[in-house]
Amino acid sequence: MTPDQHIVVTADGTPTLFSKQFNEHYHSTHGARQESLHVFIQMGLASLPFTPNPIPILEVGGGTLLNAHLSQNWLIQNNRSAIYHIAEAYPPHPQTLNAFWANAPLPQNWMNLYGQPAPIHSQSLSLEHRYNKLEEAELPASFYSLVYFDAFAPSKQPELWTTQVFLKLADSMTQGAILVTYCAQGQFKRNLKQAGFRIESLPGPPGKREMTRATKA
Ligand SMILES: C[S@@+](CC[C@H](N)C(=O)[O-])C[C@H]1O[C@@H](n2cnc3c(N)ncnc32)[C@H](O)[C@@H]1O
Repeated sequence: MTPDQHIVVTADGTPTLFSKQFNEHYHSTHGARQESLHVFIQMGLASLPFTPNPIPILEVGGGTLLNAHLSQNWLIQNNRSAIYHIAEAYPPHPQTLNAFWANAPLPQNWMNLYGQPAPIHSQSLSLEHRYNKLEEAELPASFYSLVYFDAFAPSKQPELWTTQVFLKLADSMTQGAILVTYCAQGQFKRNLKQAGFRIESLPGPPGKREMTRATKA
């Protein structure tokens, strides 16, 4: 395991990582899997107001690939498919990923995702680590229907929660597309509004009062 991240078991019994670099957990310590299921799958993927097939998804901060894995499960169950692009600037070390997925191993090509240039295709998902730093990414115009915004908190990464970044994301999204995040901080929501999004404050996962869903108006 790299010295930068170590595994922490959360309250629902599922693992998360702790990053020494950012002094922050990757998921809620109240329950990693239940947070991802609630914020990104239930309030995001399962709540899309329209249903392109495949669904173009951008995840900001792919990390452990938990959201990609849960998305694939949902897509298979619902007979849908997605193009899934990941922006990830500091991929976890392969050994760390192996330890994270020790009890429910992912396919080997998923474990190598961050080291390979080509997308991984399956019937339900085309998965690609397409961008490194979001700030430097050249995103396509009017493409994504759904954005999972899963960066570290605004207190840790203020440069990622700015109006400028949300304007860039809005440009990459289609009309009516949604962005979901665990965060409910006031300044962040004002920045989203300034970037032209309509905001919904929704109940958060267990242990968190609120989360945010934003629609490109
Ligand atoms: C809260 S964790 C993400 C958790 C991830 N979705 C998961 O389920 O494991 C935040 C992630 O954002 C990544 N990150 C940090 N700065 C970034 C940047 N500028 N651009 C893209 N990703 C970044 C981190 O390396 C980390 O993997």
